[in-house]
Amino acid sequence: MGMRKRFTLARRPVGTPVPADFALVEEAFPVLGDGEFLIENRFASLDPAIRGWLDDAPSYMPPVPLGEAVRATTVGVVAESRNPDFPVGQWVLGLNAIETHSVGVAGGFTGPIDPAIVPSPTNFLSVLGAVGMTAYFGLLEVGQPKAGETLLVSGAAGAVGSLVGQIGKIKGTRSIGIAGGPEKCRRLVERYGFDAAINYRGKSVEQLEAEIRVAAPDGIDIVFENVGGACLDAALMNLRHGSRVALCGLISEYNSPAKVGARNLWQLIVHSARIEGLLVRDYLPRFAEGAGVMAGWVSEGRLVFDEHVDHGIDNAFGAFMRLFEGSNDGKMILAL
Ligand SMILES: NC(=O)c1ccc[n+]([C@@H]2O[C@H](COP(=O)([O-])OP(=O)(O)OC[C@H]3O[C@@H](n4cnc5c(N)ncnc54)[C@H](OP(=O)(O)O)[C@@H]3O)[C@@H](O)[C@H]2O)c1
Repeated sequence: MGMRKRFTLARRPVGTPVPADFALVEEAFPVLGDGEFLIENRFASLDPAIRGWLDDAPSYMPPVPLGEAVRATTVGVVAESRNPDFPVGQWVLGLNAIETHSVGVAGGFTGPIDPAIVPSPTNFLSVLGAVGMTAYFGLLEVGQPKAGETLLVSGAAGAVGSLVGQIGKIKGTRSIGIAGGPEKCRRLVERYGFDAAINYRGKSVEQLEAEIRVAAPDGIDIVFENVGGACLDAALMNLRHGSRVALCGLISEYNSPAKVGARNLWQLIVHSARIEGLLVRDYLPRFAEGAGVMAGWVSEGRLVFDEHVDHGIDNAFGAFMRLFEGSNDGKMILAL
């Protein structure tokens, strides 16, 4: 019988996760029941959302149980099967865990994919996966961009943000990005086609507020918020009348036990503006539609995307923490 390796949750992190919060466990393959199949995971998607699932707190998903492998979306190949719909050799995408092998069940969160239609199966975790759909539906449905409007994106050099800025350009917005450091700011303009870039590192809310005003003297029509904290506070001080704030993520708060909250919400009243949370899984029934459009833009050369692949389950902790250090250049993926 084969063995599998699992990246498990040993204890709940307090603040920033440390290696001792996790354990690498080796165990025999589980025995498959009727309808089950064994997935040999090739790639795991490392997402900021995983940090929230490690806490014992109310969310849109239950917390990862202690001792269990850390939940993640994976792409893999069926290695053993007791389910005729998932034959051995079938490539699949599903919500599984950071582990070399997962058990799929009939009617579960795993579906077949065809890697022959994409340059790399990892694309199902990036531009054609939840990240791409977050950018696509988040901007178009919640942000509702119109040609000539000004779009401000925080976390702009990351997986979601880099796509949002480009989709905005395709729809005719002026796209301004906020990212960490001069190198990422250069990439925003040169690679992703943003019109302006702002480095948030080491800046106060007031400094960021002023830099946004220089980049957008007439104000912002759409804020696509990935970060929260100082970035959101500064963005709110630059809203235009009737603007929209698409609240996608608050990564600056994920490791801080004390939540700071948005301090300038009164600006929503001043400008008759709207703030709306977005959850990509609400758009699951429309993923094929969104992926079709995104794939078209990629093949036309109008949309570029980057993937940052680290290798080996032994490196799961360091790879995951890149998201909070900002040392990922593109969608963070772990090759298993
Ligand atoms: N609502 C949804 O359904 C949904 C779905 C997917 C993702 N999201 C959210 O979208 C956001 C981006 O996710 P992603 O997958 O695209 O990750 P990502 O942007 O590829 O990686 C995370 C980036 O966040 C930045 N960051 C980390 N800590 C920060 C801090 N304290 N202050 C400012 N920036 C910080 C870093 O970039 P810098 O170098 O620029 O600091 C880092 O590279 C996250 O908030 C995530 O939770 C939401």
